[in-house]
Amino acid sequence: MDRTVVLITGCSSGIGLQLALRLAADPSRSFKVYATLRDLSTQGPLWEAAGAHGCPPGSLKTLQLDVQDADSVAAARARVTEGRVDVLVCNAGRGLLGPIEVHSAEAVGSVLDVNLVGMVQMLQAFLPDMKRRRSGRILVTGSMGGLMGLPFNAVYCASKFAIEGLCESLAVLLPPFGIHVSLIECGPVRTAFQGKVQDGLDAALGSADAQTRDLFSQYQRHFEQVFREAAQDPEEVTEVFLAALRAPKPALRYFASERILPLVRLRLADPSGCSYVAAMRRAVFGDKPAEGPEGAQAEAGAGELGRPESSAPPAAPK
Ligand SMILES: NC(=O)c1ccc[n+]([C@@H]2O[C@H](COP(=O)([O-])OP(=O)(O)OC[C@H]3O[C@@H](n4cnc5c(N)ncnc54)[C@H](OP(=O)(O)O)[C@@H]3O)[C@@H](O)[C@H]2O)c1
Repeated sequence: MDRTVVLITGCSSGIGLQLALRLAADPSRSFKVYATLRDLSTQGPLWEAAGAHGCPPGSLKTLQLDVQDADSVAAARARVTEGRVDVLVCNAGRGLLGPIEVHSAEAVGSVLDVNLVGMVQMLQAFLPDMKRRRSGRILVTGSMGGLMGLPFNAVYCASKFAIEGLCESLAVLLPPFGIHVSLIECGPVRTAFQGKVQDGLDAALGSADAQTRDLFSQYQRHFEQVFREAAQDPEEVTEVFLAALRAPKPALRYFASERILPLVRLRLADPSGCSYVAAMRRAVFGDKPAEGPEGAQAEAGAGELGRPESSAPPAAPK
């Protein structure tokens, strides 16, 4: 029987690396994984882990693919020897942390380019063939930051919100072609991601005003606590990808952690946004609940966050 051909972006580390291993080493031996990396010189850890996981020969192949470079996307597609990709995993991404006024135009452009334009480029390259074959799965590493705004992550959230719109639009269109789009919505995950967003931040923060710097310190303390208490390992998250991949009728959204759900529900329950903003401010900056009906509404939302199913810290950075 033909193996399922899976192509994953961003496999140098983190979720992409773990997913490539998980599928290549799957006991069913039913996957052929093309693990793609922006820079092939970073493939060492993937192969080391593949050896340790006992990935059988021929189950895993690495390809260079930079989602920002259309030629590199086309070259990678041409090197898929099976001539088809059954499952495309859009996972590559980068973050941007800090007050919006300290970001360089280059940093802003780069986040939007990798997270959004890069994904559009991947879809443009692989979707037409899936449509022709009337079959395909598209899995996307989504984020809590694509479902709700998070302070000091405005540009990252903007890119991830955009991905929500992109995927939801395609999910409406593609079923007649036998193609399903699923977002795997992640809360905090222990990967190299956080370290990368800290690069150059201290120097940039110097140009922000004192009050913003103080709020940023509060945010960082909150984030560290959330990460300590709620971060998942990428291995846990990859099982959710597997569930989406194996579902006969895949949903548009899967949640890597149920801890995200109370905030998602709070946003939907109050379309004005007031409850969410108040609850998030209280969680991150320790605001007191407001007096009056608006405060009561926000308080109700925040109460939901404190229930046992949601005893997790209410905010995560991504
Ligand atoms: N970690 C979290 O808490 C978290 C939470 C929610 C969502 N996510 C999402 O999960 C995804 C994977 O992140 P991760 O946590 O596993 O972090 P990671 O270990 O930093 O992985 C990100 C991957 O994306 C790659 N990448 C960056 N720019 C690229 C480009 N232009 N072309 C191709 N690949 C590129 C990186 O390659 P290089 O190493 O070469 O830069 C790396 O392999 C991202 O989309 C992120 O937004 C992460």
